[in-house]
Amino acid sequence: MSRSEATGPEDPDGTGIDLSTELCGIPLENPVLNGSGTFDALAARKAFGDVLVSEFPFAGFVSKTITVEPRAGNPPHRLWETPSGMINSIGLPNPGLAAFCEGDLGELSELPVPLIVSVMADSAEGFAELVEAVGGRAGVAGLELNVSCPNVHSGLIVGEQPDEITALVRTLRPLTGLPLIVKLTPNVANPERVAVAAEAAGADAVSLVNTLKATAIDPDNNRAWLGAGGGGLSGPAIRPVALAQVRAVAAAVSIPVVGMGGVSDGESALEFILAGARVVAVGTENFRNPRAGQVVREGLPDALQRRGFGSLAEAQASTLS
Ligand code: FUM
Repeated sequence: MSRSEATGPEDPDGTGIDLSTELCGIPLENPVLNGSGTFDALAARKAFGDVLVSEFPFAGFVSKTITVEPRAGNPPHRLWETPSGMINSIGLPNPGLAAFCEGDLGELSELPVPLIVSVMADSAEGFAELVEAVGGRAGVAGLELNVSCPNVHSGLIVGEQPDEITALVRTLRPLTGLPLIVKLTPNVANPERVAVAAEAAGADAVSLVNTLKATAIDPDNNRAWLGAGGGGLSGPAIRPVALAQVRAVAAAVSIPVVGMGGVSDGESALEFILAGARVVAVGTENFRNPRAGQVVREGLPDALQRRGFGSLAEAQASTLS
């Protein structure tokens, strides 16, 4: 199981409950990250001002996925609200590696929390270029390998195949000393097989779940609502699926698990921790409330206390019956 001891007596909320932890050696004040692509820290800073930085809602920041070449993303519509969730068909728009390194990366590395950069390519060579370039930059604490985006065909195939994951991680492992976190797809029968392959090849952690393949239909016009035809479902609607997969994966690997899929408050974050996640990531909820990360963190001490846990570490170390 992926369990950890807390790194120190951190208690910024004065609740008496220590939320501090670590992920692959990255110290975190609490276990709440953002899901890649669900919170634009630079745009949020422009909209909300420097208070966004001084009261940053997450303990670590995961960037939008970067590719070697710039991507415009998918045609509209790109978002569709569902009962208790959302389908996105964004298509990984990003400025590309060179522009990211010259532009956004500098500002992101000034955030008051560790920075994890998400990368995706359609070949091992592309991933290697990204890992070498971004991994060599100051201010980057870790790399997330996005092998699970359902909105770009090449992204999903690697994440579906344990053998492909083994080959990819073995290629990338020697290229950086930074933690490599493999982001897993839920669109497979046994995500634990992919997670085990990632661990055996040298990954430092896995994160899951990315979105579930989904679509929305416009019956009046007999077509799909989303420009790309379909996308990925996220939010509380998929939480039970995510919990089952996190639980299965955490039981199968020794490396830490980043759990996500409908985390929206302290209670749901605790559910993921008890399922075996070391830390959690907030995604869809950020679209409703840019302070969602803070809401989750502030709800955790109470959720822990009511179950008799004196710290996050106690919950991380507990075993489900
Ligand atoms: O389409 C997107 O930009 C989403 C990416 C992902 O789910 O990894």
